[in-house]
Amino acid sequence: MSDHTALKSDLLARIQGAANSEALEAIRLEALGKTGVISGLLKSLGAMSPEERKTQGPAINGLRDEIATALTARREALEDAELDARLAAGRLDLTLPAPPRRRGSVHPTMQVMEEMTAIFAEMGFAVAEGPDIEDDFHNFTALNFPPRHPAREMHDTFFFHPGMDGERKLLRTHTSPVQIRTMQRTNAPPPAPWIAGAREPPIRIISPGRTYRCDSDATHTPMFHQIEGLVIDRNIHMGHLKWTLDQFIARFFELKSVVTRFRPHHFPFTEPSAEMDVQCDTAGGEVRIGQGSEWSEIVGCGMVHPNVLTNCGLDPDEWQGFAFGFGVDRLGRLKYGMPDLRDMFAGDVRWLDHYGFSAFDAPNPLSGLS
Ligand code: PHE
Repeated sequence: MSDHTALKSDLLARIQGAANSEALEAIRLEALGKTGVISGLLKSLGAMSPEERKTQGPAINGLRDEIATALTARREALEDAELDARLAAGRLDLTLPAPPRRRGSVHPTMQVMEEMTAIFAEMGFAVAEGPDIEDDFHNFTALNFPPRHPAREMHDTFFFHPGMDGERKLLRTHTSPVQIRTMQRTNAPPPAPWIAGAREPPIRIISPGRTYRCDSDATHTPMFHQIEGLVIDRNIHMGHLKWTLDQFIARFFELKSVVTRFRPHHFPFTEPSAEMDVQCDTAGGEVRIGQGSEWSEIVGCGMVHPNVLTNCGLDPDEWQGFAFGFGVDRLGRLKYGMPDLRDMFAGDVRWLDHYGFSAFDAPNPLSGLS
């Protein structure tokens, strides 16, 4: 009996002191495994006399039960502790600063396009679009460019190799071909009877888009953006043109009013033609619109040439109109002060981080444009 008491207290002490599940399992094998001490004692019962077995049987079985219970209790305690340790090690530290998150931004040109579209939409203009790859007719001929006009030469225009039919396509040099396509549509029958067809005059459209010219310096890039405007109606004159542009420029630069002037110019597709300048001050290298005594050229414009109307099937004795073409990137530079136009399309994210707009800054004439 006494050696059982010593064995029991030794085992219980070691079970209690087992540092982890592996140590505990070793003790279990030592006591209750096939060749374990208690298993040996249980086996020895068979060789005992019936009297001896009567007292030793319950004692040894009791010892086995007590050790098994202690092992289970210790295993559960160890498993709990190990789980606690794992949880503690894997816990997120919410007090650490979050890793920086990259946010995209809206390119200033796209932002300016949206601003311009919002203002013209409020004035009743619809948006019209046309292809970037144009043909000679829409880009030049219909717009009244004479056959030997310099713009038709290689040094101004990106031409494609002639196609199978010998036709030489080009990258449009301006958005004016969209006025041709829009006016031509006034005569085209609708594609199906249930589709609203002709854009009968009055026409009031703007056409934002990409344009291309062989040109590259601080104020010119081979790809740039324009917004064309076209109004065709009865009794349209230059007063309408001036009012529309004045309204637009004041809204765009967020001023009460602006001082502008027409300077005579030449475009083949308008007559008379003009460039409009806006009053500005460039002292200190910064352009301030609406003050000072200098002028900044801002838009090309004029009254649609009768030949252009005729080329599109409109009778110039019945319809007149005006057209204008803004350089979007140039307007963006004037408003937001980007020094070099070429940087705008270099695709450098650091530039975009600096000059880009949040996607939540969608221009809205009511809440402000920029
Ligand atoms: N298409 C002209 C250009 O690219 C701009 C313009 C448009 C001028 C409409 C007059 C009327 O320079």
